[in-house]
Amino acid sequence: MKINANFQKMKPSYLFSEIAKRTAEFRAQEPDKDIIRLGIGDVTRPLCPAAVEAGKRAADEMGVAETFRGYAPDGGYPFIREAVSRYYARRGVSVAADEIFVSDGAKCDVGNILDIFAPGITALIPDPVYPVYVDTNIMAGNNIVYISGSADNGFLPVPDENTPPADLIYLCSPNNPTGAVYNAGQLAKWIDYARNCGGVILFDAAYEGFVEGGLPHSIFEIEGARECAIEFCSLSKTAGFTGTRCAYTVVPKELNADGVSLNALWARRTATKFNGVSYIIQRMAEAALSEKGLAQIAENLDYYKENARVISSALDELGVEYTGGKNSPYIWLKCPNGMGSWEFFDLLLKKAGVVGTPGAGFGVNGEGYFRLTAFGDRDRTIEAVKRIEKALREEI
Ligand code: MLT
Repeated sequence: MKINANFQKMKPSYLFSEIAKRTAEFRAQEPDKDIIRLGIGDVTRPLCPAAVEAGKRAADEMGVAETFRGYAPDGGYPFIREAVSRYYARRGVSVAADEIFVSDGAKCDVGNILDIFAPGITALIPDPVYPVYVDTNIMAGNNIVYISGSADNGFLPVPDENTPPADLIYLCSPNNPTGAVYNAGQLAKWIDYARNCGGVILFDAAYEGFVEGGLPHSIFEIEGARECAIEFCSLSKTAGFTGTRCAYTVVPKELNADGVSLNALWARRTATKFNGVSYIIQRMAEAALSEKGLAQIAENLDYYKENARVISSALDELGVEYTGGKNSPYIWLKCPNGMGSWEFFDLLLKKAGVVGTPGAGFGVNGEGYFRLTAFGDRDRTIEAVKRIEKALREEI
């Protein structure tokens, strides 16, 4: 029996598992220390009332013979696919219901999408980056080429004449981990590049709910994207569904590779390997995307945006270099005095009892950087910021 040897090429543990392990070790040594977690980007605000009420109604329906439902249709019930289509239409983006595939997570879909592409292809991945893109390509035995994000390009790399051709191109905007957001002109460059080399852009829009002003929420706001891009989005960060699980992937009908429709391939893959999100959750997601739900969600997003402002203002005052904090729940800061990311992680944990995410966990270019999340409770975020300020003042 042979295993997939590619697994042995990955780091032994997933970034957030490693952080949880180190935090647990610290807690065992100092059981009385109060620890505030601003590490993994997990939400803390409760689900919006519209979603909760819809969930209760749907649960009642499941207890009555006349309204009971078994397997959901492949790709999701029409009501949720249409709700997502309307959500796009609010920004003038036309996406048909049968181009939307409902799933239990953008993370799963970003990994699973590799099923429809040949193994051994080339993926162009920015560095620093959400580790799932890298790990899933290693698992698939793909060739990874990195494009460098740095303070010099505002952590928003764009292709130029030296960028090698790629089969898959990963973009995440607003970016995890750096919080940087591509503008329409920068995305247009990526679309030109993808169309020139025949590659497919895999666009992760999980944090689009944080975008304000004229910046794009979706790659489909940019001309030409329907011929070269797949978009992944989720209700996790927008509507607090990290524990409830509901996401969607958009595969436009115009998108072909090797003369084959990728929409048809993804539909085929979904039908074979997935039995769908539960009816109750799909009804909750539909309600979250209704006018009433969206107004309620906006209040939660404002709460997190205010947390981001609290963190950013403290860094401004201290003169610490950072990106994000606006249009994004993440604040990506430069560690003080040339410190390494894990060194700063240990320092903050020990001195301040605050858990963040070491930038090095997101790639080579993340070394020397550190990520904080604005998804925490307000009072705990304010307390964490006070402690971080104190630790930084002692260090700087
Ligand atoms: C993160 O902290 O980067 C995210 O919560 C991870 C995820 O969404 O899977």
